[in-house]
Amino acid sequence: MQLCVIGAGYVGLVTACCFAEMGNRVVCVERDPVRLARLARGDVPIYEPGLEALLRAHLASGQLSFSASMGEGVRNAAIAFIAVGTPTGEDGSADLSHVLAVADELGEALQQPCLVVDKSTVPVGTAERVGQRINRRLASRSMSFRVRIASNPEFLKEGSAVEDFMRPDRVILGCDDGQSTEQLRRLYAPFLRNHERVLCMGVRAAEFTKYAANAFLATRISFMNEMAGLCARLDVDIEDVRRGIGSDKRIGTHFIYAGCGYGGSCFPKDVRALIRSAELEGFEPGILRAVEARNALQKTLLFQSVREHFNGLLQGRIVAVWGLAFKPGTDDLREAPSLVLLDALLAAGAKVQACDPVACNGMQGRYAEALESGQLQLTESPYSATESADALVLVTEWKQFRQPDFARIRGLMRMPVIFDGRNIYDATELAGLGFLYRGIGRPLAGHCKASAA
Ligand SMILES: NC(=O)c1ccc[n+]([C@@H]2O[C@H](COP(=O)([O-])OP(=O)(O)OC[C@H]3O[C@@H](n4cnc5c(N)ncnc54)[C@H](O)[C@@H]3O)[C@@H](O)[C@H]2O)c1
Repeated sequence: MQLCVIGAGYVGLVTACCFAEMGNRVVCVERDPVRLARLARGDVPIYEPGLEALLRAHLASGQLSFSASMGEGVRNAAIAFIAVGTPTGEDGSADLSHVLAVADELGEALQQPCLVVDKSTVPVGTAERVGQRINRRLASRSMSFRVRIASNPEFLKEGSAVEDFMRPDRVILGCDDGQSTEQLRRLYAPFLRNHERVLCMGVRAAEFTKYAANAFLATRISFMNEMAGLCARLDVDIEDVRRGIGSDKRIGTHFIYAGCGYGGSCFPKDVRALIRSAELEGFEPGILRAVEARNALQKTLLFQSVREHFNGLLQGRIVAVWGLAFKPGTDDLREAPSLVLLDALLAAGAKVQACDPVACNGMQGRYAEALESGQLQLTESPYSATESADALVLVTEWKQFRQPDFARIRGLMRMPVIFDGRNIYDATELAGLGFLYRGIGRPLAGHCKASAA
């Protein structure tokens, strides 16, 4: 099939490469010239395992190409996917300016009928607006055809996006006409050969389902974070509680980890957008507000804990930070808990030595001044980050941070104190090695004696 994918970000680029892999001819339209030039060279501008190999293979096979021109992108396309960003707007709602701009460009560029599919996460009713906008332009150009519109929300996870797209748990097809459903079913059939997991519904239900899924996952996280806060006061280890409730099949083990809060390009903005949608309908979204408030608080916990440990005196202290990306497996720093911690540490006068396997490049803009002055240092090795440090804070649980050589770290640090923002370490083991250990919702373990180093 001839396809156009608009937007070459985490979702659009993965979508384009994976459809090309299944033998479709895909043109990906991207407006950022720097990104476009890199992609045309086979250079992936984001970190996503497996993506570069697909990109290079299909640039070479001719199944995939990139263009700045919408006209070129949709020439002969049977389906056009919109995969541009929908960040938080000023009032908390989803900012639809990119999506609507694409609709206008499509209305100007289309020369033949086409199914326009919204893959971006958008509030209920947006696909309808997009269709009306395109068709109005087509009418003003005296074109005799009109577009059909569908919603196909994306559920891939950064860090395993290619795998998720290739073997999806489910594909949601939101279509209000049978022809669109059949067209999309055919397109997705190769991804679903072993199990038929296509869920067909109306356009509005598909749009809502994406928000409900993200809001539900965010709710589980905030619920566990609230339980962790109470555990900390009752001398109970939230990790025991997690295992205890996770073994109940009705609850399950996913998304019940207490930690330093959720971030990323989806949960925070989608919870906010759903709250705003509810407000616009005069409906009180009490649970969603609590989820968001708990998360905002949770993101400040690590700093509060560090500050408390040093009796509020952080000037001149050296703090090692492990992990900057909002989760392991990605370079995405959007709304990452690490940023809240870094901002507060730097403002309090601490020196920060931070390490992340892939996300350091994204720090240049926001922290240019601190990097320039040396108050913030980025290190390639996790061990270098701990040199002479007064505390180590684990923020993102990358595999390389899971089982470090603690004896070596003990020798490198000035004060052997570990703040575990993801509860991945064994408190008893660390206490045995002479560390003071503080997790989230876990009893304090160990004593802190200054290292000989
Ligand atoms: N990132 C995720 O994990 C994820 C998962 C599921 C759904 N989503 C949703 O998918 C959508 C895209 O998210 P993302 O993370 O890929 O965004 P992104 O910011 O990484 O990428 C968006 C891309 O679209 C490009 N773009 C913007 N306007 C354009 C235009 N008029 N023409 C061509 N290109 C244009 C931008 O330059 C950018 O490269 C959002 O609605 C998001 O909520 C994201």
